[in-house]
Amino acid sequence: MTAAPARITVANGNQTRTEDLYSPAGRDLVAGLWLELSAQFRLMYDLTWLGIPIIQLPGDIVMMQELIWRLRPDVIVECGFAHGGSAILYASILELIGKGFVLGVDVEVRQYNRLAVESHPLAHRIRIIEGSSIEPSTVDGVKAACAGARTVLVVLDSNHSTAHVRAELEAYQPLVTPGSYVVVMDGAQALVAGIPNAKPEWKESHPLAAIEMFLAAHTEFAEDPRYTRTHVTCNPRGFLRRKAMGEER
Ligand SMILES: C[S@@+](CC[C@H](N)C(=O)[O-])C[C@H]1O[C@@H](n2cnc3c(N)ncnc32)[C@H](O)[C@@H]1O
Repeated sequence: MTAAPARITVANGNQTRTEDLYSPAGRDLVAGLWLELSAQFRLMYDLTWLGIPIIQLPGDIVMMQELIWRLRPDVIVECGFAHGGSAILYASILELIGKGFVLGVDVEVRQYNRLAVESHPLAHRIRIIEGSSIEPSTVDGVKAACAGARTVLVVLDSNHSTAHVRAELEAYQPLVTPGSYVVVMDGAQALVAGIPNAKPEWKESHPLAAIEMFLAAHTEFAEDPRYTRTHVTCNPRGFLRRKAMGEER
């Protein structure tokens, strides 16, 4: 028995789009709609990891787990610590690996967030630097903490304006070891700029534009689509891998 053909039509203002539901185009249409609804209803603000709030979508959490388990980094630099849930996620995988620490950077670490992380069973795998991620003193502090590390993974999840992410990419890319990644989060801001709850600036200023500029200037990095294959992701085009020695530029 063959499945009945099914079409999905989305009407938005004067525009309509129809796709075969069981095709890649249908899947992409539905994934895009679910991403918009996730942002509209702030689903990514409603999860915790081992008791601490984490601001990520479930599929993106699984992808970071895959990446960290495969890379086995010595240091994970995270710009944008917030409540610390993502740092706890990364630290929990490092704990199973048996080495490494997370260096969380945030312009403002609230006292109750700091206390919750410092009293967590994984606190020994987390260090915090308070300051803007693009301040030279912050960058110097991060570089000093990474000295001697064989594998460094960088995650950018702080201010999501094009200019800020572009500056962060330039400041932190030298730390990314060959074969490792800089992960640029929240490029989806550009893709959900049409939802009722969007901020007006999302249309013009977003991480996707910074990623494009960075890749054009840095052929030693390449986008890796493996970690966005769940389709519903806040991090489209966000996994940028530094090519290993001898790989083509
Ligand atoms: C989206 S939240 C981070 C979410 C967190 N990574 C998670 O997954 O749970 C963004 C954070 O970036 C921080 N931030 C904003 N501007 C910053 C800057 N210039 N430097 C460092 N952190 C900044 C904010 O204070 C906020 O805590």
